[in-house]
Amino acid sequence: MLWVKALHIVFVASWFAGLFYLPRIFVNLAMVPADSHAERERLLLMAHKLYRFMTPLMAIALGFGLWLWLGYGIGRGAGNGWMHAKLAVVVLLVGYHVYCGRLLREFEQLHNRRSHVWYRWFNEAPVIGLLLAVVLAVVKPF
Ligand code: HEM
Repeated sequence: MLWVKALHIVFVASWFAGLFYLPRIFVNLAMVPADSHAERERLLLMAHKLYRFMTPLMAIALGFGLWLWLGYGIGRGAGNGWMHAKLAVVVLLVGYHVYCGRLLREFEQLHNRRSHVWYRWFNEAPVIGLLLAVVLAVVKPF
């Protein structure tokens, strides 16, 4: 079980590296002047490759989490409110990941309408998600 938990944490950390960095690329993309084609293409390529890499990391992290929950039964049954709360946070984080993919497509089609300031705020959401999920899993406050 400890091996599964260790791998769960490793893949969660790797997925979050992407969740933190991809919106930073969006901030830069939103600042590219309209005539800087080469710069936009380079950032789009970076964002595209990062997103393609992050998606399997997410799936593996969640797979190990489900193994701990359903396989080893950690957090199952009554008195495990933290697990339900954590699953709710996980649903929001997966939604954030999928939404990042939609934003990336908008950039690729030159349809972005949002400012770099908007992306700076958008970039803060996974920080809150990480804080909540880790506190719920480690402290188990309820
Ligand atoms: C489908 C999604 C997930 C499920 C079902 C899941 C389930 C679990 C379970 C059952 C444990 C073992 C808890 C224990 O040993 O007391 C665990 C540990 C942990 N999870 Fe998740 N998890 C998921 C996603 C996440 C995410 C997205 C994060 C971080 C953002 C995260 C962070 C952690 C951490 C830090 C631990 C170690 C807790 C400790 O040993 O004290 N998990 N997870």
